[in-house]
Amino acid sequence: MTSLSTRELLRSAANQLIITKQAVDLDDGLLQVELLFGLAASLDRSAVLALGLEEPTAAVHERFQTLLNRRLTHEPLAYILGEKEFFGLPFRVGPGALVPRSETEVLVEISIQRARILRQRKAVPRFADIGTGSGILAICISRAFPDALVHGIDISDSALRWARENATRLVNSEKLTFHQGSLLEPLQKSGVHDLDILISNLPYIPSEEVLDLPEEIRQQEPLVAIDGGIDGLELYRKLSLQLEGILSPEGAVILLEVGAGQISWVEEIMMSTVQNLTDHPIVSAKHRDIRKIRRVLEIRYGID
Ligand SMILES: C[S@@+](CC[C@H](N)C(=O)[O-])C[C@H]1O[C@@H](n2cnc3c(N)ncnc32)[C@H](O)[C@@H]1O
Repeated sequence: MTSLSTRELLRSAANQLIITKQAVDLDDGLLQVELLFGLAASLDRSAVLALGLEEPTAAVHERFQTLLNRRLTHEPLAYILGEKEFFGLPFRVGPGALVPRSETEVLVEISIQRARILRQRKAVPRFADIGTGSGILAICISRAFPDALVHGIDISDSALRWARENATRLVNSEKLTFHQGSLLEPLQKSGVHDLDILISNLPYIPSEEVLDLPEEIRQQEPLVAIDGGIDGLELYRKLSLQLEGILSPEGAVILLEVGAGQISWVEEIMMSTVQNLTDHPIVSAKHRDIRKIRRVLEIRYGID
């Protein structure tokens, strides 16, 4: 079927990814095809690299070509591999769930820092992750604080299937529960209150800009995970109106991932309601992601 060595085959495949804009450069292209080849040959990446001048078998070549074709037709790499690493953990992902992004890791880091402070006065903190998707935030928190009560909520049943599968594989906690519904409604209905930390990465791309996203995102990842309405801020407005009675009156932290340039708008929306919920002084902080973009808005009261 082929007289190409593995190395030549991978280089040629990486170039195809670059030409079709599925890879930004040769390093990115090679990384992707090495992972795809590894899946086709049931080998880890170092074993793939060690093949060098060896020719792949016809069966491996065929399986690799099938995987490469899926990638060339814009299927996200994580969907093909069935997995994406986030915060050092392998999360299962596929159609119906947003692929975890590395810029979201800052949300976990800050939540853990704040929860450590909170734990000095409250043994069992309560978290909610709104728009949990594949469950990444709820699961990372639940692993860091196995005693904490953690609620993951999503409007999408398909996303919740991934979240539950990830929870089964990655955490061993009966205190992590997932709920289907819009924003805080499922918690309101089941009488959950006194939340200490609310974290959320809601869809924030303005509807018109969704059309400009790469095909890989626009056509393959769920629209409900991306489209934030006319100005991208619709769900923050709705969320802000649901906060009354759900946060702990003694102190709480809200941590929201936002799009580039949106942070001050979201701050204004949240502050306008949070200031009516407490007599504590309110602190607002803006945190940058790994690309130095102001990505996470933090609003807290009663917690230093
Ligand atoms: C940007 S994704 C984030 C997923 C995950 N938290 C992450 O960081 O990878 C937004 C998630 O919010 C969910 N979502 C959209 N509208 C919602 C709503 N009204 N209530 C609850 N979840 C919603 C989507 O289904 C999607 O899983």
